[in-house]
Amino acid sequence: MDTAPPTDNEQATLWNGLAGRAWVEMQDLLDRLFKPFEDLLVEAVSLGPRGRALDVGCGTGSTTLAVARLLGAKGRCTGIDISGAMLAAARSRAERESPAASFICANAQAHAFEPASFDMIISRFGVMFFDDSIRAFANLRRAATDNAELRFVAWRSAAENPFMTTAEHAAAPLLPNLPARQPEAPGQFAFADDRQVYTILEESGWAEIDIRPIDVACTLAEKELIHYLTQLGPVGRILQETDAQTRAQVIETVRVAFDPYVHEAEVRFTSACWMVSAQARSA
Ligand SMILES: C[S@@+](CC[C@H](N)C(=O)[O-])C[C@H]1O[C@@H](n2cnc3c(N)ncnc32)[C@H](O)[C@@H]1O
Repeated sequence: MDTAPPTDNEQATLWNGLAGRAWVEMQDLLDRLFKPFEDLLVEAVSLGPRGRALDVGCGTGSTTLAVARLLGAKGRCTGIDISGAMLAAARSRAERESPAASFICANAQAHAFEPASFDMIISRFGVMFFDDSIRAFANLRRAATDNAELRFVAWRSAAENPFMTTAEHAAAPLLPNLPARQPEAPGQFAFADDRQVYTILEESGWAEIDIRPIDVACTLAEKELIHYLTQLGPVGRILQETDAQTRAQVIETVRVAFDPYVHEAEVRFTSACWMVSAQARSA
């Protein structure tokens, strides 16, 4: 389904702007980095109610395509995302790989899904950006068949994921305009509080909610680290608009701050996340 990308809130603007462009540019690196999470979701689909799957906040489509490959001719995986640029990348991958995948460019919080049209709903880091999470998960519940499973991964707190904030802590003295994170607002760490996630799912009509901490080893090549930190996150975004001298200073300072994670040619860190599952049950 081809519609114009929504740009009616801050997250839509971000993912259709700098963040979306960075994720497309870094698609290969990010997919390698977060492959362990894709494997966990694919495994869950293989054990769950097969058929029609929905990948929420599917981005450039790696997880959507992996699930579509698993389902083969017996099923179908649909990715939904608010970012036109990321979906364009997802669609061209799907054309190359041609499994049973399709994509919707829309806000998953409000999109008019066909009721009871998905047997499984998954997401890799794509559900922490809604401005009304209860409304969003209630919308997804309506899109799910009775007995469908919801399964997603989301980040625990920034404090438990120091790798993710190393760049901004190191760069802050050099970048007075660097926006501070707002842990309560939609964004990477919005689902840090598992009690809040439980309440969101309960109030939006999901049952048998299970939220488990998972600690997942992630790696990237040391030679990719500068590219990573100059593109992604708040520092990556602000560096797109920073003068060359400050930029060089920031890169030097931030790179040193990552030393504890560098082991010869490899960068290693642990991602502290939640594996969340819930079931759609008839009322
Ligand atoms: C951190 S990225 C994860 C992308 C992808 N799941 C992956 O693992 O590569 C978050 C994704 O959620 C999408 N997103 C944010 N808010 C959304 C919304 N309201 N509806 C649909 N997608 C949304 C973004 O455009 C982005 O592609």
